[in-house]
Amino acid sequence: MGPHIRITPSILNADFSQLDTEIAKISSVSDFIHLDVMDNVFVPNFTFDFEAASSIIKKCPIPVDSHLMVASVDQIAIAYAEAGSASVTIHAEATRNISATLKGIKSHGARAALALKPATDISDYEDFVDQVDMFLIMTVEPGFGGQKFMSEMMDKVTRTRKLIGSRPIWLQVDGGISLETIEIAVASGADTFVAGSAVFKADDPAQMVNALRERATTSKL
Ligand code: DX5
Ligand code: ZN
Repeated sequence: MGPHIRITPSILNADFSQLDTEIAKISSVSDFIHLDVMDNVFVPNFTFDFEAASSIIKKCPIPVDSHLMVASVDQIAIAYAEAGSASVTIHAEATRNISATLKGIKSHGARAALALKPATDISDYEDFVDQVDMFLIMTVEPGFGGQKFMSEMMDKVTRTRKLIGSRPIWLQVDGGISLETIEIAVASGADTFVAGSAVFKADDPAQMVNALRERATTSKL
């Protein structure tokens, strides 16, 4: 049997003027909603401030996976956990005290995850393996949806999977995940998949979530 597969659609490329409707299209078939928080400092794009994000988290019918692409994230990450995120992801590049912040997130009952940009290697962060619930290996440069999947990140995914070993830690990939790229990501060791444009640009977003799950589950690679 293969790994348990989770599909976490990103609403970054959904229609922000009618988010409730957009989320309703996929909530019954998705494991989490992936919420991309960008501050125009850590990345050259802005999505939500804390107030707007909190109201999405509170209203969302399924658990929210908050991916924080913001500078000096230590304090606000804990607030995102307190606001009801099921999982909070901090970037290694943006966090001053990674251990304390992971601990703070968990103290509010949320899962705590550590994300790495494409240029950041896992070898520098191996010591956190016993403190995280999930690693996120970015497969695009964070900031925008609709970019091309970086297959050269698969080596990092494989090495992270090896580091995880038998620990119950999830391994997420984010960026350019589609029916074409999900199989190589599964084969490299990922089990949790963010998909933004693949889902929200599809004619039938729910059907696309199902198709991605099916492709990941039955991958023969
Ligand atoms: C990029 C975000 C991703 C993005 C994924 O910075 O973290 O979650 O929305 O979008 P696609 O699937 O279109 O690459
Ligand atoms: Zn993301």
